[in-house]
Amino acid sequence: MNKKKIKFATSNPHKVKEANFIGEKYGIEFIQIHIEYPEIRHEDVEVVAKKGVEYVFSKIKEAVIVEDTGLYIEALNGFPGAYSAFVFRKIGNSGILKLLSGVPKNERRAFFKSSVAFSDGKIVKTFNGVLQGRIAEEERGCEGFGYDPIFIPLGYEKTLAEIPALKAEISHRAQAFRNFCEWFSKAVLSAQQS
Ligand code: IMP
Repeated sequence: MNKKKIKFATSNPHKVKEANFIGEKYGIEFIQIHIEYPEIRHEDVEVVAKKGVEYVFSKIKEAVIVEDTGLYIEALNGFPGAYSAFVFRKIGNSGILKLLSGVPKNERRAFFKSSVAFSDGKIVKTFNGVLQGRIAEEERGCEGFGYDPIFIPLGYEKTLAEIPALKAEISHRAQAFRNFCEWFSKAVLSAQQS
């Protein structure tokens, strides 16, 4: 099958790999492009992603997606949320663990939200995925990236960094990309074929 290629503006190759794991099943290949875009200040990653894709489209004038993710920790009132990249750079996983020190297991609930935003100049559309879980007591595992070593998905005891094959199937990003691919293969690819 001839794969449909679509540009994915991101500096993170892990995200491209995870996206292509899903895209493969739909005959869609995500091609990484390196275009920086301003991440506006907003609590919802969906708004950040939408503004980002509008900016990238205005630069390249071709169909493109961007994706933004946030980690929302309940005991910290949703912090770091849409500021997850900044917080990761500043305090990292050890800083988050310190903020939660003494917080018992049943109060360490958190979720990831991922939003994929698409634009082809006519349509701007977002697709979301959420992964519920909790923050571990210590960092574990060496796969994945970012907060993976401290995030345990609901129903499991291992961190995402210990179970990359499962992450590929169930993550916030996998869900958001599955939603995108479902829509894209129906709405866009079938319109091109008819
Ligand atoms: P962004 O979507 O690249 O802005 O990511 C925000 C922050 O969350 C960065 O520090 C990423 O490393 C981290 N992050 C994004 N996606 C994931 C993930 O799937 N697992 C763990 N951390 C992530």
